[in-house]
This record gives sequence, C-alpha cells and structure tokens, in this order.
Amino acid sequence: MMTTRSVTVARTADIKAGELAAFEVEGVRIAVANANGRFFAIDDTCTHEQCSLTEEGTLDGTVVTCGCHGAQFDVTTGQVLAPPAFEPVKAYPLRVEQGAVVIEI
Ligand code: FES
Repeated sequence: MMTTRSVTVARTADIKAGELAAFEVEGVRIAVANANGRFFAIDDTCTHEQCSLTEEGTLDGTVVTCGCHGAQFDVTTGQVLAPPAFEPVKAYPLRVEQGAVVIEI
C-alpha cells in the first residue's frame, strides 16, 4: 500500500525568493522552489536528460528553466511548459508550518 510521510526539509528562511534548493528525501532528489514567497516541491531531476534543475536551472516566478537544453516546467504542478522535455516532473504536496517547509512524500 502506498503511504505518504511528512518530512521537514528546510526552514523557509533558508531558501531565498527566486531560488531553488535541492534535498535528498527518501532517496529522491527534490527541488524546493521559493516563488516570491510561495513554496513548491518538484523532482529535481529534469525528465529530458536528467540534469539537476537546482544546479543547472533558473527560477522565474513559478517557471523553472533547465539550463542544460532549455526545457521549462511549472513548479506548481510539475507540468512541462517548453520542450525538449515532454514528461512532467513529479510535484509533491508542500506546506509551511511555523517557518518549516514540510513535504509529503
Ligand atoms: S536535461 Fe533538462 S532540458 Fe535537457
């Protein structure tokens, strides 16, 4: 049976607006985006050729652009906004609790 766990990955203060930070959670590399004060969690690994979105990418509003070949994803849903990626990245439910970033995995 699939069960989810709540995992605290960071303090909100540790991730500046307009930045992404990657965390290893249960063996999965997850990118947490601070989109102008709203936080979102997606897989860090680009579905095109597995570049790290945190290391290679840039965040503009809620759009992350992979620096390797320019694919774009919506950090709020994980959906592809621009090729060459065509598969979405997984998005994870996230909440902020007393300054802590908590994701469900
Ligand atoms: S690896 Fe991300 S666009 Fe190619």
